[in-house]
Amino acid sequence: MKPLVFVVSAFLFSILSLTLTGSVTISFIIFLFFAFLTLFELLKLRRAEINEIISAVRQIRIDPAIPEEKLKLNPDIKPLEDEIRLMHKRINEDIGYLRKLEKVRTEFLGNVSHELKTPIFAIQGYVETLINGAINDPKVNKYFLEKALHHTNNLNNLVSDLIDISMIESGEMRMSFRYFDANEFFAGIISEYKNFAEEKNLKLEYRGTEKAVQIFADKARLKQAVNNLVMNALKYTEKGEVVISLVDNRKSAQISVSDTGVGIPSADLERIFERFYRVDKDRSREVGGTGLGLAIVKHIVEAHGSKITVRSMQGEGSVFSFSVKK
Ligand SMILES: Nc1ncnc2c1ncn2[C@@H]1O[C@H](COP(=O)(O)OP(=O)(O)O)[C@@H](O)[C@H]1O
Ligand SMILES: [Mg+2]
Repeated sequence: MKPLVFVVSAFLFSILSLTLTGSVTISFIIFLFFAFLTLFELLKLRRAEINEIISAVRQIRIDPAIPEEKLKLNPDIKPLEDEIRLMHKRINEDIGYLRKLEKVRTEFLGNVSHELKTPIFAIQGYVETLINGAINDPKVNKYFLEKALHHTNNLNNLVSDLIDISMIESGEMRMSFRYFDANEFFAGIISEYKNFAEEKNLKLEYRGTEKAVQIFADKARLKQAVNNLVMNALKYTEKGEVVISLVDNRKSAQISVSDTGVGIPSADLERIFERFYRVDKDRSREVGGTGLGLAIVKHIVEAHGSKITVRSMQGEGSVFSFSVKK
């Protein structure tokens, strides 16, 4: 407001002095005087605005959680205020995200340590008992050794899965996509698990397509994902069948692994793809599970541009499905 008053005054007073005195010099001096006052006021105003900006930025630096309403600037520079508020919001979102990551990391580390401890303690226990005399007791010595071996296998599975998951999550998993025959591929997987299924008296089948289907995928990774699903299906099924099926759609092929096993309670369905989440921890450990299988499957399926879905009824069975490009 002030600078405007000075500009008007500069004109008024110089014209007035020109009419009164008739001297151009005096009128020019008066004009100059008001011009300087205007300039001085403009500079002061600019300084005040800069100070407001500095203060707003400083407030965010000192306390990023400062309420947004406190970040107020002169109405003349409203667009800048809006930008600062947006930046403030973004910073807070980033901080929230980093905190969440940190929490996930700590939780993961806690889980890993716990999971490692379980088999290590068990092995330690069996070995100590053997050393303390059980080695000479033919009734238990072989049993304890077998138990220790079982836990070494668990430890081995866990370390392999941990290496996989860390490789996948750090983005080091290189995918190598190729076309290959789907029917041949799945029939191969079935033959690998035939013995295991027979031992449990389960029917294991592949229901493919009549015509050959070429799918476009990373063969090794897809095998790892399907192996995990088939292994789960076999582990969590006591009677009935496990089926891999392939449905040929126009641009993709849908792969499903179904079983007639224990099923998954609906409350757990959303969480089973989380690292270390298991419906029944003891049962999972008993069958050599690490709790990382489905997390790995999810990553692999997503790397193929698809999404894994699951349908399950407790006591009736489960179906895991996803699709791959053709
Ligand atoms: N086919 C299935 N039938 C019933 N429960 C399943 C099946 N697949 C996975 N689950 C449940 O999801 C959990 C997580 O699976 P996964 O990540 O493969 O870990 P795990 O090593 O325990 O098998 C399992 O512990 C189990 O409770
Ligand atoms: Mg598993």
